[in-house]
Amino acid sequence: MKQAIKWVMKSEEDTKKFGLALAKQLKSGSIVALIGDLGTGKTTLTKAIAEGLGVKEMITSPTFSIVHEYHDGRLPLYHFDVYRIGEIEEMYELGYEEYFYGEGICIVEWADLIWELMPEESVTIRIEYGESENERIYHVENCNIKEE
Ligand SMILES: Nc1ncnc2c1ncn2[C@@H]1O[C@H](COP(=O)(O)OP(=O)(O)OP(=O)(O)O)[C@@H](O)[C@H]1O
Ligand SMILES: [Mg+2]
Repeated sequence: MKQAIKWVMKSEEDTKKFGLALAKQLKSGSIVALIGDLGTGKTTLTKAIAEGLGVKEMITSPTFSIVHEYHDGRLPLYHFDVYRIGEIEEMYELGYEEYFYGEGICIVEWADLIWELMPEESVTIRIEYGESENERIYHVENCNIKEE
């Protein structure tokens, strides 16, 4: 089994700092898999990563379109939310390979639903609720975040 590093987010502010730090580590072609129940903060983390990449456009949940593209940051950002995907075929129909194996950065909410398509080297963040309302526990694979 792969080594997962545990991080504790005590507040939304911690999540924001984490996202900004993660953005610095991401390179052309990086893929971030976000896994966690409703409301664990996958979109909140995505917003922080986007901010770190210099995206000025507003990040909204791509509820009806599976993927939203942002082209005003350091690298193109492709934000997937596959929560409502019916079958894996839909990923082929939207041409996911162009995104996953392209020059930009992909962030995938609910990546567990399309796990067979996720490259093994993806930065994987499993998010759980913590003990208090605003606490979240992260289990991070394939990335060494350095906090400042
Ligand atoms: N430490 C934290 N990190 C992230 N979000 C937090 C934290 N503490 C509280 N929150 C709140 O939790 C909520 C997370 O909502 P968000 O839409 O980001 O979750 P999500 O995982 O994307 O949900 P969905 O599965 O519906 O897409 C927000 O209301 C946010 O303010
Ligand atoms: Mg979300």
